[in-house]
Amino acid sequence: MDQYNIALIGFGGVNRALAQLVAERNDRWQTELGFRLNIVAVTDLNLGSVVSQNGIDARMLVETQWEKGGFARLSGGSADADNEKVIKQAPADIVAEATFTNPNDGEPAVSHCRWALEAGKHVVTTNKGPVALAATELNALARRRNARFEYEGAVMSGTPVLRTAKTMLAGSGLSGFEGILNGTSNFVLGRMEAGLGFSQAVGEAQALGYAEADPTADVEGYDVRLKVVILANELLGASLKPADVACQGISSLTVADIENAAKDGQRWKLIGSAVRQQDGRITASVAPRRLSVDHQLAGVNGAVNAVSFTTDMLGAVTVTGPGAGRIETAYALLSDIIAIHRAGPARPTKEAAE
Ligand code: HSE
Repeated sequence: MDQYNIALIGFGGVNRALAQLVAERNDRWQTELGFRLNIVAVTDLNLGSVVSQNGIDARMLVETQWEKGGFARLSGGSADADNEKVIKQAPADIVAEATFTNPNDGEPAVSHCRWALEAGKHVVTTNKGPVALAATELNALARRRNARFEYEGAVMSGTPVLRTAKTMLAGSGLSGFEGILNGTSNFVLGRMEAGLGFSQAVGEAQALGYAEADPTADVEGYDVRLKVVILANELLGASLKPADVACQGISSLTVADIENAAKDGQRWKLIGSAVRQQDGRITASVAPRRLSVDHQLAGVNGAVNAVSFTTDMLGAVTVTGPGAGRIETAYALLSDIIAIHRAGPARPTKEAAE
């Protein structure tokens, strides 16, 4: 049985949910998966930081009502997040990076990942910024340090779309995909079909934990654009940047647009897609589309996501599942840790050569 020491960077919904899972399921994981998790550090811009060589009580972390700077009350705690020092110095095998997504340069999350990997620590993240904007650099750094950089939750939360496509569709002649990749916008479109106004529907999505800190990224398509970049680069071998992907969101759709589509037997969906052109170039876009109700993505409702892969051997293969939510996204971090555990014996080592 192994025990992995983990550092939680960012203590918002996702890492809080991971701590909750640790509190509730460590014994089950020990039996089913062969390892336990021991939280040795937590940082949060609002709450501060805490480091403990022996481990921090996960149940206490999730059940305490923390005030600003509240980690200072704990042994080994401080009111400052001090991410760099904690990431570099905490006795963690694995760093779980779940701070906010910055769609412009990915910072500070890119630096968080870089510091951890340079120190020979594995990184698991649900943060789209470092994956969409710096995956090439961070994967190379991970290889040099004999560490792993895992990010299943960057697309479709805990639904294993990246691993499914990379492993189960290898050799199938993957040439493109189209998908519903934002739970908030899909939820909002569904609630508007049910008669709700746009703002009220967005408010519900925020309350349910689907929306980004700034829901503009959800409804304007920017969140989908990052996911399209990640899928295209990871699965189609593209080198896209967000600016390469034409992007339109759902905020200009009116209730009348939605009703008119329904009269024609159609539904509006926000679709992110990429395709390999005949000359080998990968082109990609994000845009609302009216889908016939018998289209394979038309019946995907609520915060559920789906991506339909185009393959030579199998035709369309569609993966459907949750695309947002705290526990669902925390599960993605667990799935990354399972992947690290099963890949052994690549244990982190600070002595690994450049
Ligand atoms: N805000 C995102 C969504 C969460 O609504 O799908 C996952 O990236």
